[in-house]
Amino acid sequence: MNIVMIGAGYVGLTTGACLAHLGHSVTCVESDPRRLGPLRAGDIPIYEPGLADVVQACRLSGRLQFADPDTPALGTADVVMLAVGTPSGADGDIDLAQIHEAARQIAPRLRPGAVIAIKSTVVAGTARSVAALVARARGAGDVAVVSNPEFLREGSALADFLTADRIVVGADDPAAAGVMAALYAPLTEQGVPYVRTGTIDAELIKYAANACLALRIGFVNELADLCEAAGGDIARVTEGIGLDSRIGPRFLQAGPGFGGSCFPKDTRAFAATGRRLGARQTVIEALIAANEARKTALAGRILQALDARQNGTERRPRRVAVLGMAFKAGTDDVRDAAALSVVPALTAAGVTVTGHDPKARDQAAALLPGVGWADDPYDAAAGADAVVILTEWEEYRRLDLGRLAQRMSGKLLFDFRNLLCPDAAARAGLDCIGIGRAAPPGTTPAQHGTAPKGSGGHARVRRGTGWLQ
Ligand code: UDX
Repeated sequence: MNIVMIGAGYVGLTTGACLAHLGHSVTCVESDPRRLGPLRAGDIPIYEPGLADVVQACRLSGRLQFADPDTPALGTADVVMLAVGTPSGADGDIDLAQIHEAARQIAPRLRPGAVIAIKSTVVAGTARSVAALVARARGAGDVAVVSNPEFLREGSALADFLTADRIVVGADDPAAAGVMAALYAPLTEQGVPYVRTGTIDAELIKYAANACLALRIGFVNELADLCEAAGGDIARVTEGIGLDSRIGPRFLQAGPGFGGSCFPKDTRAFAATGRRLGARQTVIEALIAANEARKTALAGRILQALDARQNGTERRPRRVAVLGMAFKAGTDDVRDAAALSVVPALTAAGVTVTGHDPKARDQAAALLPGVGWADDPYDAAAGADAVVILTEWEEYRRLDLGRLAQRMSGKLLFDFRNLLCPDAAARAGLDCIGIGRAAPPGTTPAQHGTAPKGSGGHARVRRGTGWLQ
């Protein structure tokens, strides 16, 4: 089939390359000439494991092309996918301007019977409103608009597409549903489940899936706080609950709070939709607040522990190494990453920060002025009072803790992803403070506190946990 993908950003490029890999003829349209030029030359502007190879192979076979918005491919397309940005707008609701603009531009140029599939994450009712817009622009209702949400995780997007848990297509028009079923036949024939719904349900499925996953993380993070307070161990507790087949073991890793391009934005939009439609999603509203508070509290926790280690009234400059800028491992994306909350709060409190990330350093450096950068974690730790791990990169899991300790001037290791064994850290002479497990003796942060200087927060200490709120 002939596919045109409007938008060659993360979703458009990954989905376009995968559809070409399945055998379709795909033209990815990019309106920004600074992005289009490199794409045409085979230069991939994002880091996604395996993507460069698939793009290269499909370009060579002629099944994947890159074009500007004037492309004649629009006139022969069976399916035009919209994968343009839907940023957060007022009150957390999403801004649909790019979707509307793209639909307006392509509408007159499509052949009758073509299908517009919305890939971007959009609130319930968007496909129907875009269908009305397209019908007005064409003066005919001969182009259907369907909802086809994506469920790709950064870092494993190719596998998520090619061996998807499910494909969701929301189509109010039976003929358009047939076109979409043919598009995905190469996957459904291999057993990938296919869920056909109306457009509203498909739009809701996308948000509900992300809200549900984000809730799981929000729950497990607060459970970790309870483990700390009660003297438990989050790893054992999640193991115990995850064996219940109704709960399952995945997505139960406590950490610094969720980030990325989807969960924070999508939960805000989900809550905003509820408010707008008079069906408030109070559970999700509480989740959003808890997740933001958690990220803010991280810096307070570090500062309190550093303060507790200062001798008497003499205040000497404090140095902290922050390992991990990406919002999770396997990506160079720093959107809503914990580092973007922690590092500014530390620097505002007068701490000298040296950062490290194997992939996301440039992206982070652009947003974090005043931070020094190191090429490896050991150099970052040189002279540091504390090392803080924020991203679960494999190379941090394999850190030589003896070597790390030798380079540091202090002993504090904040393992906010629970990557390291506390016993191994203790053998290296480090006090390892993880998430959801009792702090080593003598390192429990003060039970009273004020907001870290410059953090902007109003501090309150949750009893027993040391997590400033
Ligand atoms: C997510 C959804 O998983 C995906 O289906 C959707 O299409 C886009 O949003 P992504 O943002 O790439 O994907 O990352 P994901 O792996 O889901 O992680 C999101 C956040 O949750 C990250 O900050 C991650 O560190 C955090 N997380 C995830 C945890 O803290 N614990 C976990 O157990 C899992």
